[in-house]
Amino acid sequence: MKGTGLSSFIQRPRRQNVARSATIALLGLAGLLWLGNNYNNINNGHDVNPFDDIPGAGFSWHQITPSSSIEYHDCFDGFQCARLEVPMDYNRADGQGRRVAVALTRLPAKVSATDPRYGGAVLINPGGPGGSGVMQVLVAGRDLQTIVDAEESPDATGNTPHTKYFDVIGFDPRGVNNTTPGFSCFPDLSSQVAWELQMEADGMLGSSENSFMRHWQRAQALNQGCSLNLATPPAGEDEALGNHINTVPVARDMLEIIERHAEWREKQGQLQQTLHDRTHGHDPEQHIITRTRWHRNDEKLLYWGRSYGTVLGTTFATMYPDRISRMVLDGVVDVDKYFADIGPNPIRDADAIFDRFGLYCDEVGPDSCPLYTTGGPESIKEAFLTLDEKVHNASIPVMASPSHGPEVITWTDIRNLLRVALYQPIFAFPLFAQYLARLSNGDGSAIVDFKQVNHRSSCPSNQCQMAGPWSTACRDPGENESYATSAILCSDAEYMGDVDEDGFREYWDELKKDSKMLGDYWAHIRMSCVGWKARAKWRIPGPFTATTSNPLLLISNTLDPVTPLHSAEKMSRSFSGSVVLRQDSEGHTSGASPSLCIAKGVRRYFQAGELPDADVVCEADLKPLLGPTTASLIDKEESMTESERVLMQAMMNEVQRVRRRPL
Ligand SMILES: *[C@@H]1O[C@H](CO)[C@@H](O)[C@H](O)[C@H]1NC(C)=O
Ligand SMILES: *[C@@H]1O[C@H](CO)[C@@H](O)[C@H](O)[C@H]1NC(C)=O
Ligand SMILES: *[C@@H]1O[C@H](CO)[C@@H](O)[C@H](O)[C@H]1NC(C)=O
Repeated sequence: MKGTGLSSFIQRPRRQNVARSATIALLGLAGLLWLGNNYNNINNGHDVNPFDDIPGAGFSWHQITPSSSIEYHDCFDGFQCARLEVPMDYNRADGQGRRVAVALTRLPAKVSATDPRYGGAVLINPGGPGGSGVMQVLVAGRDLQTIVDAEESPDATGNTPHTKYFDVIGFDPRGVNNTTPGFSCFPDLSSQVAWELQMEADGMLGSSENSFMRHWQRAQALNQGCSLNLATPPAGEDEALGNHINTVPVARDMLEIIERHAEWREKQGQLQQTLHDRTHGHDPEQHIITRTRWHRNDEKLLYWGRSYGTVLGTTFATMYPDRISRMVLDGVVDVDKYFADIGPNPIRDADAIFDRFGLYCDEVGPDSCPLYTTGGPESIKEAFLTLDEKVHNASIPVMASPSHGPEVITWTDIRNLLRVALYQPIFAFPLFAQYLARLSNGDGSAIVDFKQVNHRSSCPSNQCQMAGPWSTACRDPGENESYATSAILCSDAEYMGDVDEDGFREYWDELKKDSKMLGDYWAHIRMSCVGWKARAKWRIPGPFTATTSNPLLLISNTLDPVTPLHSAEKMSRSFSGSVVLRQDSEGHTSGASPSLCIAKGVRRYFQAGELPDADVVCEADLKPLLGPTTASLIDKEESMTESERVLMQAMMNEVQRVRRRPL
């Protein structure tokens, strides 16, 4: 893995005392990290390949035969995997036709599924669209489980049925990662890599005079072919993946997962009852069978979705309102905007987050924020904009070194860094300040590392080296991810592909008015659908509104760059009884900052179904650059319980995971 961390995670504000930094170190929060990769965790300063530390990575999905019932197989050291076969087209009257094998990975609950304290399976979705739920559960499942599970360990709770322990299940939606059939927009990997490098070299919209024309034509070239191919059934088949990859059938797949998981649970119960009766004598009431029974066609969903995952959640809630047990939606998308382009653009709060950068940078001063200049937050912002313009005028050359080849740092690189900073300020404000300060002194080497970590095939596996660079051994099943994003998004939101040049320019101008900082980046989302031809067969007209069997818990930051608070408030009005729990912080989804208050709110909801009062505003325990907030327990280590410490660590792990997908 190339690139080393240059900045310690939590900067030390001027006012910070020794006890405070000791506490941080104790929590294991300090360390080295670098940007640009999805999976990097702080790891005592050692660079690691994130998959090296998943023993059992020798597991292959091909070892599992897809089945219409769930059959769990051990995989990835401590997880279980299954491939659930579902109809590609649920609306086919004869029940025939192509099948999709949905890949799912289960992190088993800390108690068995037959235990009275077993709370069920929480389905998760990381966003995207196109994000892999399998990847999410492997990387983040344990942390999410810590948050939803009862505080006490199962050994300590005895048989209290009021403490619950949950499975966490991640699944790959249609067209994503390990779910089959997959698809590719390229004939081979080399044409894909060449294309992606050229895309990068073309730069972001707004990077040059001809950036629009170039992207417009690239979008046509890529999307017309890709969507046509995807909308053409293979020989002898009736269904094409491209017509069945949108969110609605995926919501139906979720229903299938919970039904089939219940079927599996029932089987476990029967086995366990037999065993029990054999050792303890026949139980006339058959307790275990009773509590594990499959309530066919009436099983209820437990769900935790982020960002695009909230689109999937609200779609499910609209289609199956009486099938909801718990649903947490964090970083809430306005689905009317998403599906039908109705309502304001979502990026209106993005520039306010950048203003916070100026504010916090001014407060901590040059030691913690090297981009600091005297004259207050406005001058810091000005300093950035001057640098931004300077690099726009002329990119900055960086010589080759033992760790990287020659490069130029472009305005696009700065804007990508800015994007990460706005999405994840705690994680990225310090790096942003440091990288740009170095760049303004003519040193672009740090940004080169950031940039090159994004280049794939920088560290080929042994098998790949042996089989040759373009062999299948060199393929990462996730490498089609951004194309899956388009396939899902563009068939959900047909208006995106239907735009013409003038219409697009108008839209882009509007975005720039809404956000100087994020407008160009955000325009790429619609651009990624230009020329898309495949149409979804099964759509729902809306309105997206419902009275659900249990109320939803919505979570929103006060300032989110792409899923603003007002979206959450709007969606909450459409789902009766739902509550918006606010986190007073900046960034995309509450996962961008740790907050014990939020974690406890989520736990209470999963454990007891209790919602917070509508006016609760949770404080984040850390602020970007500033460090721990005054009310935070991080600062008062002795008053934090062991269980709070564990929760805090789980949240800090989340904060450090870089999110690559737009939503
Ligand atoms: C990714 O692309 C390859 C071929 O280029 C294809 O075989 C594979 O199925 C694709 N994976 C997904 C998840 O679409
Ligand atoms: C960028 O170029 C424009 C036009 O040549 C010039 O007016 C401006 O001062 C330059 N900006 C910076 C920061 O160098
Ligand atoms: C795809 O799934 C595998 C596990 O089978 C995981 O290791 C990998 O990170 C996933 N890829 C992406 C891009 O999410």
